[in-house]
Amino acid sequence: MNQNFVILLVIAGCLWSSCEMGKKKDQPMSVSQRIDWERTDNLEMESFIDDLLAKMSVVEKIGQMTQVNESFFAVDQEQTEATGGMANLIDSAMLAETIRDYQIGSFLTGGTRPAEEWYQLGKYLQEVNLQHSENKIPIVFGIDHVHGTNYIQEGTVFPHNINLGATFNIALARQCGQSTASEAAALGHHWNFAPVLGVGRQKFWPRLYETYGEDTWLAGAMGSAYIQGLEEEKVGQYRMAACAKHFLGYSIPQSGWDRTVVDISMQKLYEYLVPPFQAAFDTDVKTIMINSGEINGKPVHASYFYLTTLLRDQMGFKGVALTDYLDIIKLHTEHFVTGNEKESTYEAIMAGVDMSMTPTTIDFCRHLRELVEEGRISEERLDLSVRRILRLKYHLGLFDHPLPSDEYLDNVGAEEHRNAARQAAEESIVLMKNDHNRLPLQNPDKLLLVGKNANLKKALGGGWTYTWQGNDESLYPDSWQTVYEALKAEFPATEVVLANWENYMQSASGADAIVIATGEDPYAEGWGNINELDLPTEEKELIEAAINLGTPVILVLIEGRPRTIGALYDQCDAVIFAGLPGMFGAQAIAGVMSGRINPSGKMSITYPYKSGHVIPYNYKHMEYSYLNVYNPEIQRYSIADFGSGESYTTFEYSNLTLPDTLLYGEGPFTASIKVANTGQRAGKEAVLWYLSDLVASYTRPNKALKHFEKIHLEPGESSMLQFDISPKEHLSFPDEKGNLLVEKGYFVLAVGDQHINFYYNK
Ligand code: BGC
Repeated sequence: MNQNFVILLVIAGCLWSSCEMGKKKDQPMSVSQRIDWERTDNLEMESFIDDLLAKMSVVEKIGQMTQVNESFFAVDQEQTEATGGMANLIDSAMLAETIRDYQIGSFLTGGTRPAEEWYQLGKYLQEVNLQHSENKIPIVFGIDHVHGTNYIQEGTVFPHNINLGATFNIALARQCGQSTASEAAALGHHWNFAPVLGVGRQKFWPRLYETYGEDTWLAGAMGSAYIQGLEEEKVGQYRMAACAKHFLGYSIPQSGWDRTVVDISMQKLYEYLVPPFQAAFDTDVKTIMINSGEINGKPVHASYFYLTTLLRDQMGFKGVALTDYLDIIKLHTEHFVTGNEKESTYEAIMAGVDMSMTPTTIDFCRHLRELVEEGRISEERLDLSVRRILRLKYHLGLFDHPLPSDEYLDNVGAEEHRNAARQAAEESIVLMKNDHNRLPLQNPDKLLLVGKNANLKKALGGGWTYTWQGNDESLYPDSWQTVYEALKAEFPATEVVLANWENYMQSASGADAIVIATGEDPYAEGWGNINELDLPTEEKELIEAAINLGTPVILVLIEGRPRTIGALYDQCDAVIFAGLPGMFGAQAIAGVMSGRINPSGKMSITYPYKSGHVIPYNYKHMEYSYLNVYNPEIQRYSIADFGSGESYTTFEYSNLTLPDTLLYGEGPFTASIKVANTGQRAGKEAVLWYLSDLVASYTRPNKALKHFEKIHLEPGESSMLQFDISPKEHLSFPDEKGNLLVEKGYFVLAVGDQHINFYYNK
């Protein structure tokens, strides 16, 4: 069986079983019932854990539930801060003492090192740990390789997820996971804090680029493929665990600022936010990270409902739930739902936290110990979490092979990983518009290049690239090119002139086109908060001035979220959305301009027209109805919808069929479509299938993506594609308790420019 087909089958299975999310247990389980319920059928592992647990002291159990930052042990805190959290010199006495006294079970780290140094560091930390751990329990080491191995100096850096979403190519998400594990697993990076499974419906949010875009189905399919790729990869005896984050509701803060308030109806929460996580759980993701924020007035870290009832009882997750950075402490310093750290610890543990990313203090250990001594938290409750953590360590093979290996250093930056990252970059570039077929450029004599991202590598990497903020240009290796460098290489016979605001008018004369590479500076988390979605004024003025020169303008948007440009969009000849395309991003952009690459990316987000009205493609009717758009000025809400994107060839969709227009029973009902390449060039096409539920007891989105596939067609070639519609999976929707409703009624199935109406009668 072809590998892509297998992936599709698995993902279909995952998404199907997401329909089961409404299943509930009748009574809340007691801790001991839960311990039994979570036992796996790996008897050898379970008895190993039983024996180990019987020997462990309370201090050791609490230590297992503690994750500290490597920088906690830094000799020079100031220098560590300056290097984005990377401790260059570890205070070995403090390290040994902390492990001895607190029996810490997990470390996290960040910042960039060469692979060899990572190996040395991992070995050193584990050796010290094994010397001082009473029962020789290995440390599990966590890191944020969120788009390839972005913290290994010679590593393969993929595009960010917003771009992976735009490829609509599930195999690429899987390869991103595979390549990451292949490069990092043996170096002592056991646990990867990825993927983000939030749905990017809030365009101001500075972590939008870490999502697979604004669609729930897309996020579930890409995220679970990534998890499979990462967790199934074995490097000798080494493997890696993924971390589905951030559970739940982080991605849609009202204000758009990071870690701020989320108010959402439970119906919407079940419909849009739960399914990608359910797909991850059905893929057996080993861990989750908890959302730092609140939902409907309840911080998730202190919510039994989110962390136990929903996560465990309704969704069936049995792995490790890790807090985010400092988040137990934030319950009293930011959320003010408790008066002090001890009460915060109590609330979080009782809600369902397994491990606290403390991560720069070990007070958590002391508070939890007191709570156990006072009888407020039972030792059995600790056992529940410790069992989950020990299972993770067992699964990773850490008890047998705690020390990393330098045998696999050649995996780092391997050709096949780079090829996958290159392909991902190429397939993620979206040609938003191409008036008069201005692109590809035909043997231009002169190109004028301007814009703040024209000659910077860091613009292509974005946050989480070599440092947390991704903004240290000096750390970007020679293997990366800037847009300027890539254009010169792509057009060797062309004079490519790099100009700035001051001198570009003089340089414009004789140019065949002005290329404006603009967008955003790199940022991560709250450092990327903005008050205004518009592209900064200076860059907008630059675009306007270029348009006024009358020379064709090609606008390249390199950014982590859509910075609005209003009607300027219409006046540019061609516009490329490059997102954050990673280490081969510049070559991919230049390749699209020359025509070496036929663009096949489609928008993973809707690009708003103006910043005042920002809605996703799957808006509800009343969000954008005739009642509201009387004024022609406000009729337009987007310059490029989710799923749109141009190609240098043409694809024709025809022969959309269903077995009948009256469908009965459980299905599946196989729909088919013919897609033909009717242009002159070979090309890839993402075929996106949408369903609309015309009348229902709850208001429905105007349409919703339910299936997709990417195909390659030579000129003149055509292909028949199928979509198996299962009512339970594709025609259903959840109520506010998560129960899935399948209602009879009229639906529309749409793919390409074709659509078909049908009636479903259970
Ligand atoms: C982020 C997480 C990340 C963690 C560890 C937090 O600030 O929210 O996504 O995994 O830091 O670096």
